Amino acid sequence: MKTKRNFVALMTKSLYIVWTLLLVAILSIIINRDYSYAEYIAKQEAIASVNKDIAYRQWVSSHGGVYVPVNKRTQPNKYLSNIKDRDFKAINKEFTLMNPAYTLTQMMHDYSKLYGVKTKITSSRLLNPANKADMWEILALDKIDSTRKNYTEVSYIGDKEYLRLMSPLVTTISCLKCHAYQGYQVGDIRGGISVSIPMKPLYDDAFKNSILIAGLFFLIWLVGVLSISFFTNKIYKYLDEKEELYEEYIYGLVSVVEKRDTYTAGHSTRVADYAEKIAKEMGYSEYDCHIIHRAGMLHDIGKVAIPDSVFLKPTKLSSREYSLIKEHVVIGYDMLKDISIFDDIKEIVRDHHEHYDGSGYPRGLIGEDTPILAQILSLTDSFDAMTTDRVYKGRKSVEEALQEMISLSGKQFNPKIVQAALVSLKDVIIDHTKQQNPKTLLEKERFSHFYKDLLTGVHNEAYLRSNIYNLDKCSFAVWISLNNFHNYNKQNGWAKGDEVLQKIANSIMYSCKNDARVYRFYGDNFLVLLDNQNEIDELKINVDKIVKENNLRYKISVAALADTDIQTMEGLEDVIKKLF
Ligand SMILES: [Fe+2]
Ligand SMILES: [Fe+2]
Repeated sequence: MKTKRNFVALMTKSLYIVWTLLLVAILSIIINRDYSYAEYIAKQEAIASVNKDIAYRQWVSSHGGVYVPVNKRTQPNKYLSNIKDRDFKAINKEFTLMNPAYTLTQMMHDYSKLYGVKTKITSSRLLNPANKADMWEILALDKIDSTRKNYTEVSYIGDKEYLRLMSPLVTTISCLKCHAYQGYQVGDIRGGISVSIPMKPLYDDAFKNSILIAGLFFLIWLVGVLSISFFTNKIYKYLDEKEELYEEYIYGLVSVVEKRDTYTAGHSTRVADYAEKIAKEMGYSEYDCHIIHRAGMLHDIGKVAIPDSVFLKPTKLSSREYSLIKEHVVIGYDMLKDISIFDDIKEIVRDHHEHYDGSGYPRGLIGEDTPILAQILSLTDSFDAMTTDRVYKGRKSVEEALQEMISLSGKQFNPKIVQAALVSLKDVIIDHTKQQNPKTLLEKERFSHFYKDLLTGVHNEAYLRSNIYNLDKCSFAVWISLNNFHNYNKQNGWAKGDEVLQKIANSIMYSCKNDARVYRFYGDNFLVLLDNQNEIDELKINVDKIVKENNLRYKISVAALADTDIQTMEGLEDVIKKLF
């Protein structure tokens, strides 16, 4: 589940980044195009201006220049002094020749402000020094000289940006009138027309446009981010619901084990709680603590597949039975391995019986080869087994159990985990009311395989053994011993003998308020635990009747239990022996 959340978080982050980068890239392309378009417009304007100038020049040139009246502004051009009919007089007025360069220069000087375009004719071999090329124009003249094509560039004049264009000025026949003496021939590049378009107004328009588009893109970006966030929240909500379902599923599975055995149910919860405490003490993340708790709840889930005859057996297991029990780790793993929601815990479940020194199962992993959370669970599993009452094994106190953990440190358990357990488990309170004994009718019936005498239906010795520490809650122990029942069987047959035993057992149960306290011992003996004298009297009457009806002899003895402290079968045996 964490992996999925991490994946969603990663995907969300990636989507935010990709979405932002995508829009920034598109926006920068659009803005760049706007500025490029501004330069394109400027270039078109420059070309139009040059074409107009060329047309104008050609018109003037095609007429061999124009004669205009001489005045203060238009004086005879000293650079045309080589032309013999440069000036003439008519109608009392002096006229002088203006060639294309002269007319254009004057027009540019007088009217350039009208359309804001700076234009000039320049050349590397000038007639008029006033048309001297600036630095950019020198470079541009060089370029057009080799390419014979227009050369454009955005460049600074002073501190202002201009689109600058240099258009080649090609010598025509009409040009030779003024320039032949310079050695030019038709087709030669004689210089260039330099045009400079101010970029500021165009760039200002592009900037305004960019702000508008950027605002629009911001809105698109915002809608995208909100959509991603909306769908991410939907996914998280789905994962939350899945997780809730997962929790319910886990507790449902745990309840399956609980219903089979009350001892195991408490065991799973305790093991989970202890493991979480240790994980916290060791500084594991909240998530890891959560995971180990879940793993603890399910660690013995594989035991559902273990037969009742082994799983519920109240006495010590044989080695064959133990090897069957060992299979619960792999069975548990197999149950969980194909369900994705258990991905985080399946290996912990499989490895919770591995030992630090490699003596565990199922794989005999050594040291840190076992996942650390499984190592923690291994310790708490044992700790709970040590501190819980079992029929075949007395429970240890918390202190004793922790001492045993120390003695097993580096062998069965990871020393680091033992150290953490000493801190985190030292104050746990063990609930001693939890016992393995069946309580409900269903539980009793489930355990009948182990606890009931199949012939008479009363309990057997094993059940007494499991309850031995409860004897101090009873006032009297009544021992009923049939004499020479062996001979009765011989004379009347086994079937008749069994029938009598059943009748006696029924009469005993009939006399007792609590039939759970009637036990058959060694074939022809019964032990009955009672609380008052009236019950004993009624019991004697009922048993006496059956025994006499069948010509049997018996002995009935009563021992007071009030002041005894019987904790073992041997202790009980001593009390009963004293009755004879
Ligand atoms: Fe286990
Ligand atoms: Fe366990």
